[in-house]
Amino acid sequence: MNADTSKVLITDEQINEMLDRVSSEINRDYEGRELVVIGILTGAYIFTADLTRRLTMPVNVDFMQVSSYQGTRSTGILTIRKDLTVDVQDQDVLVVEDIIDTGRTLALLREELYGRGAKSVKLCAAFDKPARRIIDIVPDYRGIVVPDEFIVGYGLDYNGQFRNIKNVRICEVIDGRPE
Ligand code: IMP
Ligand code: MG
Repeated sequence: MNADTSKVLITDEQINEMLDRVSSEINRDYEGRELVVIGILTGAYIFTADLTRRLTMPVNVDFMQVSSYQGTRSTGILTIRKDLTVDVQDQDVLVVEDIIDTGRTLALLREELYGRGAKSVKLCAAFDKPARRIIDIVPDYRGIVVPDEFIVGYGLDYNGQFRNIKNVRICEVIDGRPE
């Protein structure tokens, strides 16, 4: 693998602090209510597991795999690769994403879920890279703001690799070296 991942950007202690902070915000806001949590595969699988274990209200956890590409509409087009099992009609929904980059995926997904009749849709992202934003979208629950670097670990991948790294590292692709 022609990638250098030696530089740690976020330690696992910082990730734990982030999880405690974000989960207490969600626990406060949804106290006494039921919540449908939608984790976005594959990147958010670890964050979804860690976050939901800290939630205190009744939660129904489901997963969806989506991607967005730039089509003729300015926001792009949403492709659903794996759909939900739960019906979100009249439900309070929390979408859990690994990182918001351009913002396209979450903006389109929010539109899709409101189209299915969700009562409310809020967005939670472990990491936020605002420098690359194209669609003006702010997560309701924001973990850690990151610089304009390609990061891996804690669920985030480069070509399918490095998701299992416990902390978050900068991924520098080394050109000219054979894989
Ligand atoms: P966007 O906000 O629609 O551009 O899409 C964000 C998605 O791009 C995330 O869910 C990740 O899968 C991927 N992504 C963006 N930035 C990074 C990164 O730094 N490392 C790994 N994946 C990234
Ligand atoms: Mg993703």
